[in-house]
Amino acid sequence: MAAVTAPTRPLPPLVVRAKQGAAAAGFGRSCRDEVGRLLATLAAAAGAGPVGELGSGYGVGTAWLRAGLAPGGRLVTVDLDPAAAAATGALFADDAAVTVLADDWRAASGHGPYRLLFCDGGGKQGGPDAVAELIAPGGVVVLDDFTASDEWPPRFAGEVDELRLAWLSDERFAATEVGTGPGVVALVATRLA
Ligand SMILES: C[S@@+](CC[C@H](N)C(=O)[O-])C[C@H]1O[C@@H](n2cnc3c(N)ncnc32)[C@H](O)[C@@H]1O
Repeated sequence: MAAVTAPTRPLPPLVVRAKQGAAAAGFGRSCRDEVGRLLATLAAAAGAGPVGELGSGYGVGTAWLRAGLAPGGRLVTVDLDPAAAAATGALFADDAAVTVLADDWRAASGHGPYRLLFCDGGGKQGGPDAVAELIAPGGVVVLDDFTASDEWPPRFAGEVDELRLAWLSDERFAATEVGTGPGVVALVATRLA
């Protein structure tokens, strides 16, 4: 009997354009499609938002967030790297729902608090203390690119993963890990009201 394979779901056209731009620039740190689909799904639940992204890169995550954004929603993304911010800005130049900032991640605080925040650059290493105030009560934060661990506390390269532990045990958040590919997980946390 022939093997049954799942059809590959088409990508949103803007995601395809962003990926092409990232590839042309040699930027290899865009989010995986699995993370992108998670972002689009969560963005659809964020209503008028705002939805935020720390670390635009070349706009792949931004394009996924935009694909899910509810009607009337708005999206703010920031990148410290002027080339990355310019590339993402060019993708959304005609889109009034999207604001692209060429700045440090902290500049995003002036546009929040966020119903959904993809924490993917700058503030990521500071843990929940660094970004908690950017997230609205009931809002959700997503961090990706963690290596799956079946231990508690979670470990990475033999050491306790303090960043992940901080998120998973912070009393201001309800948090869990979601598999996003072979051996990789994203962290999803809801800020408690
Ligand atoms: C993993 S990449 C972002 C990928 C993007 N979110 C995506 O899914 O396509 C991280 C980005 O964070 C940016 N970054 C690093 N430090 C930053 C800071 N202090 N403030 C803002 N952005 C920063 C980098 O320039 C880089 O483009």
